[in-house]
Amino acid sequence: MILVLDFGSQYAQLIARRVREARVYSELIPYDTPVEEIAARGPDGIILSGGPNSVYEEGAPRIDERLLDLDVPVLGICYGMQLMALLSGGEVSSVQIREYGRSKLRVKESGVLFAETPEEQQVWTSHGDAVLSAPEGFTVTAETPSVPILAFESADERRFGVQFHPEVRHSEYGEDILKNFLFEACGATPDWTPTNIITDAVERVREQVGDSKVICGLSGGVDSATAAMLVHRAVGDNLTCVFVDHGLLRQNEAEQVVEAFGEDSDVPLIHVEARGRFLDKLTDVTDPEAKRKIVGEEFIRTFEEEAGGIEDAGFLVQGTLYSDVIESGTRDAARIKSHHNVGGLPEVMDLDLVEPLRSLFKDEVRVVAAELGMPERMVWRQPFPGPGLAIRIIGEVTAERLEILRRADAVLQEEVRSAGLYRDLWQSFAVLPAIHSVGVMGDARTYAYPVVIRAVTSDDAMTADWARLPYDLLERVSNRIINEVPGVNRVALDITSKPPGTIEWE
Ligand code: XMP
Repeated sequence: MILVLDFGSQYAQLIARRVREARVYSELIPYDTPVEEIAARGPDGIILSGGPNSVYEEGAPRIDERLLDLDVPVLGICYGMQLMALLSGGEVSSVQIREYGRSKLRVKESGVLFAETPEEQQVWTSHGDAVLSAPEGFTVTAETPSVPILAFESADERRFGVQFHPEVRHSEYGEDILKNFLFEACGATPDWTPTNIITDAVERVREQVGDSKVICGLSGGVDSATAAMLVHRAVGDNLTCVFVDHGLLRQNEAEQVVEAFGEDSDVPLIHVEARGRFLDKLTDVTDPEAKRKIVGEEFIRTFEEEAGGIEDAGFLVQGTLYSDVIESGTRDAARIKSHHNVGGLPEVMDLDLVEPLRSLFKDEVRVVAAELGMPERMVWRQPFPGPGLAIRIIGEVTAERLEILRRADAVLQEEVRSAGLYRDLWQSFAVLPAIHSVGVMGDARTYAYPVVIRAVTSDDAMTADWARLPYDLLERVSNRIINEVPGVNRVALDITSKPPGTIEWE
């Protein structure tokens, strides 16, 4: 196991992901985690991440110097390297030429880190400071034209530093360099495989839950479905899943959930058909936040009313991911008693959370889901907002408008999939504005809705770029929507990135 100490770099999460991609379990922890705690966890290696600060700045994050006394290999990246240099007797200063972006690195001595990598390689740098003199006993292993000490190491002490970002794809041999650290310096074992992840998770859930009854709300997405499958492996019939179909899902999605968890599977499923009920509540509602609130509240009510027979449940499954854990900054799962949580919980229930995906990234969840035998369509389902199509229909949500949007969206999904682009896009969907425009079809004037196509690429939904969909794909989508979806006479494309736009329209 590798611990990554987070000094605030935008790439810190990426380091943990890259280590896991090399099949070694890794966790991101705050830089000020006490040394005793770090030592007690017995890591195979420690990575100090980069960070926005300068080491000499007042209040710049430091580590307890005893960390470098531990008999554990340490790799410092960027700020992490500078800290290591400073604490080991080296010198750091602002470089004359600041380096941002691509640089040409020259290996002076391959040592451990650069073994089996070429003498010249492109790396990604982003720093204002650099190491001016290496600590005693350290060998300078790489340089760029403007930074003479781009990497150093002391193989004896198993201390390594790189001033660039091996975790970023633009660093050509970054993966090899990280692997050299993991396997040559740390002697880590690549055993973080889907099968082991599943075995571990199942064991942990069994320990936590014992013989208690467990409930799980299925949203229709891959996270809650995977969590449910894992928990089912652990506790069998003690798990009951509740799927509230609010009628705001995309075409055929509700059916696919029931198919995956319904009659043919051995997971007990309470399927609540609540389409009419949600539509009634949404009548005349046009404000986006009001829609969100109504869908959330109605979800709780329905869950409470329908989850009969499982009042004695002691645990609730949630599909919380590692990225949620990192983002919220919480270190432990909170015991929840109220309904403020994701998806909504019955107020009266006093439940402990079971979060089997808490240490996994989204891509790992997908690998686990596939390994558990989940249908591919669910495994690769793009993220979808809880309030569903209600926030993609501008203005009032009616049965008629839902049908228009669902059909248009289905055409888009079908075409995006057959163009082989579905997995490359973070999200792709149709939006139905509350306007009409004039058109002409078969010599007759039309006055109907436009549909807007929204497709974005993103890593985490915090920022997004509009996807450059091929023109021929757009043409097919446009023709098909207008020909196949009554009530639509125009197709527009949203070419706004986030920021300034958001991914959803409401
Ligand atoms: P925005 O539109 O803010 O969306 O760029 C970022 C990501 O969050 C999803 N989203 C939601 N998810 N409830 C959810 O569960 C919501 O109310 C909600 N609003 C937006 C959106 O689909 C995108 O992935």
